[in-house]
Amino acid sequence: MGWRAQAPLDMKKLFHTSLPVFVADTREVADLSVAAEIVGLLAAGETVLALPTGRTPVGIYRELIHAYRARKASFARATTFNLDEFLGVAPDHPAGFARWMEEQLFAHVDLDRARARLPRLENADEDRAAAARAYEAAIEAAGGIDLLVLGIGRNGHIGFNEPGSARTSRTRVVDLAPETRADAAAAFGGIEHVPTQAISMGVATILDARRIRVLAFGAHKSDVVRRMLIDPPSEDCPSTFLRGHPDVKLFLDREAAAGLDAR
Ligand code: F6R
Repeated sequence: MGWRAQAPLDMKKLFHTSLPVFVADTREVADLSVAAEIVGLLAAGETVLALPTGRTPVGIYRELIHAYRARKASFARATTFNLDEFLGVAPDHPAGFARWMEEQLFAHVDLDRARARLPRLENADEDRAAAARAYEAAIEAAGGIDLLVLGIGRNGHIGFNEPGSARTSRTRVVDLAPETRADAAAAFGGIEHVPTQAISMGVATILDARRIRVLAFGAHKSDVVRRMLIDPPSEDCPSTFLRGHPDVKLFLDREAAAGLDAR
């Protein structure tokens, strides 16, 4: 089965914004572009990736699986750190991110599970600060994050850094915003089953990554995309902090970019 990464030729680059923005005719073009960059890193040697869950990265993971099956990519020298996980959720919980990553990527490629990390805190009596520190230390011990893939929440969150999260925040236990819990309600079988807290990389942890590739697809993201690019950087919309990063790129489909065209 062939897999050929295609250069992002079909994308329009917007120059008037505060960071490079690529608008793709279809989200598949954006998926392929980011997947191709990851494949390039995997081929180059030891690589540390930071990965999100959710609807946004599904196409990238599908492309990475295609690349692996076509023998164009191997995860043998990769280490992965997930951005976040709900609090108190066991690795095999059907709505947890560990199982989701297994289904969407890990089970289909040659990644050593000992090198696939998620922030974790299963029991209320665990030392939260120690668990958070251990995650930060593991990232540092791996040599830092080479490329971090990011989705954006409708409220501007990155990872589970909800509005109010400081630019200097590190991995920690966070309270989930009502809209974030509402978005997870279907997976948990009702909002009453969605944890109220999660453990997430902090904003500073994210900004420490050497490359950040942000993706947003669909009309429901157009408002937050506009805020991310235009609002003054502030805790009110944590994705605005990405604008200070030296190697960040934003990939949009036309629907998510609609709010930019209007300006
Ligand atoms: C998930 C995560 C979140 C999502 C964001 C967008 O691990 O870190 O920040 O990236 O909520 O979610 P989707 O992609 O489902 O729109």
